[in-house]
Amino acid sequence: KKTENQILVIFGASGDLTARKLVPSLFNLFISGHLPENFVVLGASRSDMTDTAFRKKVVTESTYLEKKLEKLDKEKIEAFSNKFFYEDLGGSYDTDYTRLRKRVEDLKNKYNTSGNIIYYLSTPPTLYETIAQRLADAGMNTQNNGWKRLIVEKPFGYSLETAKQLNKGLQQFFKEHQIYRIDHYLGKETVQNLLVTRFANSIFEPLWNRNYIHHVEITNAESVGVEKRGGYYDKSGALRDMFQNHLLQIVSLVVMEPPISDAPEDIRNEKVKAIKSIRVMKSEEELYENTIRAQYVASTIDGDKVKGYREEEGVDANSTTETFAAVKFFVDNWRWKDVPFYVRTAKRMPTKVTEVVIHFKTPHHQIFKDSGMENRDNKLIIRIQPDEGILIKFGVKVPGQGFKVERANLDFYYSSLAETYVMEAYERLILDAMQGDATLYARADEVEAAWEFVDPILDYWEKGKDVRMYGYAAGVWGPENSHDLIDGIGEWRNPGPH
Ligand code: BG6
Repeated sequence: KKTENQILVIFGASGDLTARKLVPSLFNLFISGHLPENFVVLGASRSDMTDTAFRKKVVTESTYLEKKLEKLDKEKIEAFSNKFFYEDLGGSYDTDYTRLRKRVEDLKNKYNTSGNIIYYLSTPPTLYETIAQRLADAGMNTQNNGWKRLIVEKPFGYSLETAKQLNKGLQQFFKEHQIYRIDHYLGKETVQNLLVTRFANSIFEPLWNRNYIHHVEITNAESVGVEKRGGYYDKSGALRDMFQNHLLQIVSLVVMEPPISDAPEDIRNEKVKAIKSIRVMKSEEELYENTIRAQYVASTIDGDKVKGYREEEGVDANSTTETFAAVKFFVDNWRWKDVPFYVRTAKRMPTKVTEVVIHFKTPHHQIFKDSGMENRDNKLIIRIQPDEGILIKFGVKVPGQGFKVERANLDFYYSSLAETYVMEAYERLILDAMQGDATLYARADEVEAAWEFVDPILDYWEKGKDVRMYGYAAGVWGPENSHDLIDGIGEWRNPGPH
C-alpha cells in the first residue's frame, strides 16, 4: 500500500517514549522504504529547543539507535534526521496554537507534504483533551484540506467513568474515525496471528468452543520490577497497566466470532461483542473467589538482592497497589458458556513470557486405559513472546507391543522464517495509522466495555471486605494462593524459556 504524504506532529516530543519507541520505529520505516516520499516530523513540547538540538537528542544521540547508526553511512543518517523539526509551545500545552499552525503550514509548503497530519499525543493523559481542544481552536482539526488523525497512548481513563469522559472529551473535537488509541500488544505479530490461526485454517475453528475446549489460560509475566516508573505504577497497578488493555485485547481475539471480512470495522465489531460477553462480576462473593492480587517482596535472584515493591522508588511504603493480578471469568455466549478463563499478569516473575494456552477436553471415551493421556493432554499453545510461535501437544503411540501413548509436540517458530523481517509493534502500528487502517487500534466502545468488566474488580480491591493482598518473593510464579484459583482444574503452566 502506498503511504500518502503527511506530517507527523508529536506532542511530548522531548519525552522518553519518543526516543525509546517512536524514533526507532520511524527509523526502521525509513530504512525499509515505508515512509512517504514527502514527510516530516514536527516535535512539539514545553521545552525550549532548536531543530538541531531536537535532532541531536532524538536521532543522532539516541542510545536506542546507536547500534544501527554505526552500520549506516552518514548520508542516510543525515537524510533521516533532516526530517525532524521542533516547535516550542512556550511552556504550556494549554496555549494558543496559532504559532504551531503557522509552523505546520510552512513545513507543508516547503516540503510539499500536503495537508495530511497525524497528531501523536505522547504526553500525560490529563493533557489529551486540552491538546485536542487547542488544536480545534486553531482550526487544526478540519479535514477539508487533507485528513487529520489523532493517536493517543494508554491509559485511556482510570476507570469506566473517566474513560467515558475522555472519549467524550476527545470526540468533541475529533470524530471517532479520526482517533487512534494505540495498544502496542495489537502490534505484535503473534497477537495478530491469533486471527490467522483461527480464521485462515479449517482445522482449529471447528474445535474452538465449549464442546472441545476445557479451559483457557493466559499468562503475561515480566521478570523486571517497576523499574523507574514507580510513581506512575503505584497509581495504576497490574490490572490497569496490563489487564484492562493488553490482556483483554488478547482475550477478545481468542473469544470473538468470525468477522465477515478483514475490514477494520468488521473485526472491531466482533471484538467489542466479545468483550461485552465477558460476565461482569457483581457480588463480593464472586469477586473474592475469582480474583487474586499480590505484591512482590524483597528477595535474592541469582545471588542479587532485589527490592520489594514497597521499597521501590516512587512507591508508597504502605502501598496496596498490586504487581500481580489473576482473574478467573466466564464468557456468557453460545460458544463459550461454562468454559473458565484464567488470566494472570505480573512483574518480577522468573522470566518474561506471554502465552495463551487452549486446554482441550479429554476424549469422551478413552479406550487406551493406561495411556497416560487421561488428563487433557491436547493443548494448543500460542507463544506471544519470546520465541514467538505455536505449539500443539498431542499423544503418539510408543512403538512396540500394546498401545502405550507418549506426548509429542508439533511446533512452529517465527524465527524459522529466517528471511522474514518481523516489524516492531510500534513500527507496524504507526504505519497503519499513516495509511488510515484502524484495525489494530482500540475503539471507544471497546475500551469502555473492557472497563465495565474491570471496574468492579478494582472497586472490590479498594473497598471490599475480606479482600487480601498476598505477597510473593520477587522471582517466583506469584503467591501460593494463586494456585487455589485454578485448583480442581489443573495447574498454571509455568513456562520456562525454550
Ligand atoms: C506497558 C506497561 O504497556 O507494557 C508496562 O505499561 C509493561 O508496565 C509493558 O512493562 C510490557 O510490554 P512488552 O511489550 O514488553 O510485553
